[in-house]
Amino acid sequence: MDTHRLQWIELARASLSHNLKQFRTLVGPEPKLLAMVKANAYGHGMSRIAPLVLSEGADWLGVHSLEEGIALNELGTKAPILISGYVALSDLEKAVARGLRLTVYNPETVDRLGRICRDRRLKAYVHVKVETGTYRQGVESEGLETMLERLQGHPGIVLEGISSHFADIEDTTDHTYARRQLDSFHRVLAGFEKKGVRIPIRHMSCTAAAILFPETHFDLLRVGIGLYGLWPSKETYVSCLQQNRKPVTLLPVLSWKARVAQVKHVPKGAFVGYGRTFRATRAARLAVIPIGYSDGYPRHLSNIAHVLISGQRAPLRGRVAMNFIAADITDIPGVEVEDPVVLIGRSGEDEVTADMLAAWGGTINYEIVSRLHPGIPRIVAE
Ligand SMILES: Cc1ncc(COP(=O)(O)O)c(C=O)c1O
Repeated sequence: MDTHRLQWIELARASLSHNLKQFRTLVGPEPKLLAMVKANAYGHGMSRIAPLVLSEGADWLGVHSLEEGIALNELGTKAPILISGYVALSDLEKAVARGLRLTVYNPETVDRLGRICRDRRLKAYVHVKVETGTYRQGVESEGLETMLERLQGHPGIVLEGISSHFADIEDTTDHTYARRQLDSFHRVLAGFEKKGVRIPIRHMSCTAAAILFPETHFDLLRVGIGLYGLWPSKETYVSCLQQNRKPVTLLPVLSWKARVAQVKHVPKGAFVGYGRTFRATRAARLAVIPIGYSDGYPRHLSNIAHVLISGQRAPLRGRVAMNFIAADITDIPGVEVEDPVVLIGRSGEDEVTADMLAAWGGTINYEIVSRLHPGIPRIVAE
């Protein structure tokens, strides 16, 4: 490892492999697994994670944007790539030329794709998104017939998939609403089949659905947070136990580490950091650590969180600044400049998890990891 790095993210390949195997075992051999690698692979680093998940058995990759799709394509990815977000009409040609799969729900998108296919003699592979109650993206049930006719009117368009997305599966142990969404999706599929239209790839499952509802597995699952070894929520875990399901075991893939930049002696009564929010009640020693909110460490954790140094907890003192935090090491002997600090991950017997940072910061683990700055070096630990 490059010892001059002041901060870095370690990715445990064995944990990623373990998590992927857990999902493969859970869903059986038939459905395809799409690894969600949007948002820089939930902050883990898309260029590192994508080849790893594919070599460990993922079948598809999912991204949000065209830019992410192009980046994967330029890495030489052979697996199919689904863009789950919106692509501007003027950019559709780029997606089609690269064989990127598109999520469609607007007539404007379909017509533009039809023209591109005709003029450029290309095929566009599309997944129509169905509104079942999330009201974010999707064709409402009354618009589906027209959408189908529109798609069928363009010979270059291949209707490869049909999808939907749950609104309220992670935040609750009451899955009445999720079941209603699943029922709507089933009704749509039945309606298509009645017309003799069998769309090859049906998908609706995210991590929570994959774990809790085998009936959502269909032909492909779009799994994100679970692959990275994090549970979607406490409610998902509790629901799993309530349903007497054996929970999958998930191992966090990511650790975030940094090095001490200075050991600072603070006299009793001195203030620490911007806004003087901490005042030393005794003579203290602080480790100044050169990471801050610009790297993705939430400012909200000022005076709340702790980091781990030599396996011991060092509580934050003062505000999280743009590029610095300070942690109290008065009771941790022997800390020296450039000693390693664990911001997320294990040290000795102790661990700071993304879930802990999320709970302290009033957010979810998804936000903690996906906001880790893309410029932090990602290192794969074999
Ligand atoms: C459309 C879509 N599918 C699948 C996922 C994956 O969800 P999860 O990370 O909970 O598995 C997401 C994540 O936000 C999503 O937006």
